[in-house]
Amino acid sequence: MKYLIEGGKKLSGTVRISGSKNAVLPILAATIITGKKTVLKNCPDISDVHCTVDILKYLGYDVTIDGSTITVDSSKKSTPEVPRELMCRLRSSIIFLGAFINRFGYAKLFPPGGCELGKRPIDIHLSMLSQMGVDIIEEDCRIVCTTPKLSGGEYRFSFPSVGATENVMIAALKADGPVVLKNPAKEPEIVDLQNFLCTAGAKITGAGTDTITVYPTNSFHDCEYTVSSDRIEAATYMAIASATRSMLTLTNAPCKDLFRMAEAMEQMGVYVMESNSHTLTVIPPKRLKPVSMITTMPHPGFPTDAQALLMATLLKAEGCSMIVENIFENRYNHVEELNKMGANVLVDGNTAKIFGVETLFGAQVYARDLRAGAALVIAALCAEGTTLIHNVHHIERGYEKMIEKLNLIGANAKVINSKEQTDEPYSL
Ligand code: EPZ
Repeated sequence: MKYLIEGGKKLSGTVRISGSKNAVLPILAATIITGKKTVLKNCPDISDVHCTVDILKYLGYDVTIDGSTITVDSSKKSTPEVPRELMCRLRSSIIFLGAFINRFGYAKLFPPGGCELGKRPIDIHLSMLSQMGVDIIEEDCRIVCTTPKLSGGEYRFSFPSVGATENVMIAALKADGPVVLKNPAKEPEIVDLQNFLCTAGAKITGAGTDTITVYPTNSFHDCEYTVSSDRIEAATYMAIASATRSMLTLTNAPCKDLFRMAEAMEQMGVYVMESNSHTLTVIPPKRLKPVSMITTMPHPGFPTDAQALLMATLLKAEGCSMIVENIFENRYNHVEELNKMGANVLVDGNTAKIFGVETLFGAQVYARDLRAGAALVIAALCAEGTTLIHNVHHIERGYEKMIEKLNLIGANAKVINSKEQTDEPYSL
């Protein structure tokens, strides 16, 4: 599947932000441990959610989707074995590890192979679980975990890994005493997971701070929880507004989680006006100013997931901007493709220098990962001519109805099924 996007159009209007991919995935996995009925609202209609629901259904649980509401009943007995091909369809399937250990005392998973962002190791997940008492055997590219018992106590993350924090929080609910976690990830998605688990009957405190305390429990109840909105999708549409010099209003947006993106935008001369906790309007200048240097860091630093989005916004800014990527070792897949469109970005190790150009040109480009794909959409919208983006399945993993949302604000974009020939002549 491809996206065909005509560039250069002024956009205007309102974009409704969907639920957060990175919040809903661990929460869906965590519904396994309650053994009850969970109603999740504000869930995004994206392929990563569909893959996660398929895994829950394979496990034998009743799952229904009604628009943005997903209902999971995990009361039935189930097996902790999920076939490799099902697990590997979901990049972040490792998030089931903590839930399997909690529910079944046993987990057999296939570690996420390297992906476009690098090796995606899980050593921090395994080290923390092993310290808590999980026996881990790595055999023919599988991980088998058995849990004679999980010990309460104080444990420290060597690095604030988001996924490892989520897995350990979920597993720790089965420990034989309180579990104190030091140096955890502090991303908003961790707070969302804590809020969901507490709504279901757990007692966890400290998410979003340097110390999380998990008080083990076995008693959960039916619950209803509304997932936070997606801060990276919101950042994407802030970038689109700025790059196309269009005034856009975002609704259902998690404004409190957008301060780093807003700070970067304001450096560029963009005015970000919050009208309430879930509505903001982006008012860009005639020409964007460069940013001196943006460095991606664990929360509350600048989010790595917004790095490609910021880069795409800076392509036509005045002067030279610099970005340093500190989280993933290979998160500049978008640079080669953006330069095909006339951008002037130089990468040296984990540093990228963006030299602003007057014009970008439509081209045939290839999405290499989720946010790299989003960066190509941003560039296509502010390029001259038409761009054909290949491999948009990467984008569909994390963006709900992107083409529909773009056309609602005045873009001219469409989905081209791979076998369809595009009638646009390409100079390339
Ligand atoms: C989550 O991935 C997000 N995914 C990512 O979003 C996001 O980029 C990342 O957190 C950082 O914010 C989901 O929530 C589903 P990490 P995760 O463990 O948990 C290294 C997107 O675009 N590391 O915090 O995998 C790792 O290699 C996706 O929506 C280890 O070395 O991120 C990376 O360099 C992409 N050993 C860094 O830590 C480990 O055991 C951050 O990884 C675990 C991680």
